[in-house]
Amino acid sequence: MKPLVVYYSLTGKTKLVAQVIAEALNATLLEIEERRPIPIPFVYLSGGFAALTNRGSKINPIDVDLKQYDTIFIGSPVWGSRPAPAINSFIYKTNFEGRSIIPFFTMAGDNSEKALANITAKIERSQGKVAGSFAITSYRVSDEQIIARAKEAIKNY
Ligand SMILES: Cc1cc2nc3c(=O)[nH]c(=O)nc-3n(C[C@H](O)[C@H](O)[C@H](O)COP(=O)(O)O)c2cc1C
Repeated sequence: MKPLVVYYSLTGKTKLVAQVIAEALNATLLEIEERRPIPIPFVYLSGGFAALTNRGSKINPIDVDLKQYDTIFIGSPVWGSRPAPAINSFIYKTNFEGRSIIPFFTMAGDNSEKALANITAKIERSQGKVAGSFAITSYRVSDEQIIARAKEAIKNY
């Protein structure tokens, strides 16, 4: 069965990683989009605050039958040591019963522990089982290096 790669990306870094996974595993790629995209100058105030308080946001309808996938990669930037609100919404809306979930992050820093614990709890509340994870630092890292790191990380799956 093909895996599914679901991701949200504001500035394109998580998207790069999602594309590498989809290509490496011949997976279906699904981008989660904010219904009203967050203007970048306000992202720390609105998106950052929503992330810190574990809120979801309004996202566009999802055009994929999730029942067709038993492995789902979920990618998000780290916002305030947590997943982005659009990814919270996707997780809150979905029942992952019987599915293996592999969260992945991109982040400016190098510590994804808090974000991983946070997303794991949310996935488990939606009946999913976390079967792996990885995180890639994007700050002062070229797109080529992000792609190379993603290719390395995906070798484990
Ligand atoms: C609102 C906001 C909060 C952030 N908080 C963190 C953080 O807590 N830790 C961290 O390492 N990076 C943080 N970052 C940096 C992003 O995680 C990083 O730039 C990420 O690779 C962006 O992914 P994207 O290009 O897919 O949107 C934050 C960025 C934004 C916009």
